[in-house]
Order: sequence, then C-alpha cells, then structure tokens
Amino acid sequence: MTAPNAPSANRIDYLRISLIDRCNFQCVYCMPEGADLQYALREHWLTHDEILLLLREVFIPLGFTRFRLTGGEPLLRPGIVELVSAIARLPQTEDLALTTNGFRLKKLAQPLYDAGLSRINISLDSLNPDTFQKIIGKRGQSQWQDVWQGIQSAHRVGFSPLKLNVVVIPGINDHEVPDLAALTLDQEWHVRFIEFMPIGNSDLFDHKGWIDSETIRTQISEKWGLSKGQVKGNGPADVFRIPGAKGTLGFISQMSECFCDRCNRMRLSADGLLRPCLLNETGQIDLRTSLRSGTSLTTLRDQVGVLVNQKPEINFKMRESGATGAYSRTMSQIGG
Ligand code: 5AD
Ligand code: SF4
Repeated sequence: MTAPNAPSANRIDYLRISLIDRCNFQCVYCMPEGADLQYALREHWLTHDEILLLLREVFIPLGFTRFRLTGGEPLLRPGIVELVSAIARLPQTEDLALTTNGFRLKKLAQPLYDAGLSRINISLDSLNPDTFQKIIGKRGQSQWQDVWQGIQSAHRVGFSPLKLNVVVIPGINDHEVPDLAALTLDQEWHVRFIEFMPIGNSDLFDHKGWIDSETIRTQISEKWGLSKGQVKGNGPADVFRIPGAKGTLGFISQMSECFCDRCNRMRLSADGLLRPCLLNETGQIDLRTSLRSGTSLTTLRDQVGVLVNQKPEINFKMRESGATGAYSRTMSQIGG
C-alpha cells in the first residue's frame, strides 16, 4: 500500500467531488449562452457506491479527510442527502462541505444539516433580483427569491459560518460590493469576493475585464475600515472584518496573486476524472474507466498516490507559469 502523504504545511488531504456537471442556472461567468457544452453521459457519472468505494479504499488510505461536494449544481444530484449522510458517517471524514447555487436549499437545508453536512457555500452575486436574473441567465423569473430563502433556511438550521460567494464582474455587479459586504454587519456570515477568471466565459472576460481584490478591499475599507479576521475552512481566501461586524469578508485573489504553491486540493469530476489542479491536467487519471474495467483498488491507490506526490511539483510549475492555461472545460465540468 502507498504510504499516506507526509504531514506538511501543504498536506494534500482535500478532495473536491463533482456530483453532476449540469446546472439549472447559466451564470454568465460560468456557462455562456449558446456555448456548446459537452455534458458527461449520465451513465458515466460515478455512482454513489463508486464514490464511497473510492473514498474508503483509495482516498482515505492516502490521507484525505476533507471533502467538498460540487457541481454543476450538486443539489440536482438525485439522492444527495443519502450520499452526504454516507460520507459524513465515514469515521475518517473530518470535514464535509458543499458548494451550491442555493436554489434547492429552502427544502434541503434541514435534511442536509441533519445528514451531517458541516459547511455550505452559496453563490450570491447580487442583491438586486433583476441583476441576479441577468447574471444567472434566467429572465423574468424569480430565482433570486428562491436563493434568498435558501440562504435564510441554511442560516436558520445552523450552518455556520455561512459562506456567500460573489464573483465580481465590472459593469455588472461591482457597484454592489458595499451592499454585499454590509451583509456581514449584522449576521455571522462570511462574504467572499472572487476575482473573475477567464474560465467558462472568456469572451465576457475579454470584454469586461476583471477587478482585483485590492481594489475591492480598498472600496470597503474606505467606507468602514477593515481589520484582519479569521474563518473556519480550507479556502484560499484572505480574511478581514469590518470593525464591529458580526461576520467576515474573504478575498480570493487567484488572478492577482497566484496561490498555487499553497494549493492542497485534488478534483474528481462527475465522470470520474481525477485531476491535480483546476487548470492543469497533468497526470489526470480516469478512475471511472479503471474501476469499471476491473483495475484493482490497490493499483488505483498506487496511481492516485503517485499523482498526489506529484502535486507539489505541478503547483510549483503553475506558479512559475503565472497559473495561465488552456481552459478547455468550465468550472462546472471540472467541479468548481
Ligand atoms: N471566475 C471566477 N469564479 C468562477 N466560478 C465559476 N466560474 C468562475 C469564473 N469564471 C465559481 C463561482 C461559483 C463557483 C461554483 O464557481 O465562485 O460560486
Ligand atoms: Fe451553475 Fe454555479 Fe455555474 Fe452558476 S456558477 S451556472 S450556479 S455551476
């Protein structure tokens, strides 16, 4: 058996598991209108049993203890509550989180909490329903209300800290930065501003450009002041707090400040591809095909162990290259 990867400041023990590459939203920065996205065939999705088998026999023995369920939109995956419950019950699971667009949370927040989900991140790019509808590509409907109610449900059932993700796009929602930051004044929420990346919709990126975290931070700081803060989790965010605020602010600066050397995550796509990096496919392993063609779990564990051990070098190369790459798949396809 391959030895668990050695403890270090940068221990690779965090696996993001995409459960589905489809989504009921079509966020402008993620799934551009008219894009010809090649979705995985449903029969190629790893089944719940396959995911659990891989966790028990491959990832956990290699030292993975922290998991995040992603999509597309993971709450569209049939049986999600049962899967959360099964992963949460694995004795080695130290942390189980989920990233969602919030649309189905109103109903699912309580069952997910009861099933043992520890943490949740919800996308909320605007407080203005019209702008929100524009961003998620659904005109004339009321998804903002559903998402807002989903956020309230998640808060009520006890997810804490509740994390809200905002991708800041110039000319679309950047004027809302102070209002979104102000959500932390009275609530113990963690609002994270994410730099827009040229992945998913590079046309929009070329057209609108992006705003760096420093600019956003300055805008908030000029209004209220900011002090350093802390928040529970595994994320790459720099954390701050408005003095006297109950919640915290996070800034994810993957464009302006490459943090590849600190990256501790591996990504498993819904169709079973394991990759060491969002932007780099070096050493990618097709776990689904191997598993279904009878490759032994010992062999798979050894292959994954080799990739885990290669990751620090891949991180280093990504940092050296300025973390630019060919983005052939969107976040929703890779597992955001
Ligand atoms: N730039 C930055 N973040 C993105 N996400 C998706 N596409 C992009 C992009 N182009 C992130 C958002 C969303 C999560 C699911 O993926 O933060 O909340
Ligand atoms: Fe769906 Fe999330 Fe992509 Fe928006 S960012 S389209 S909610 S997967």
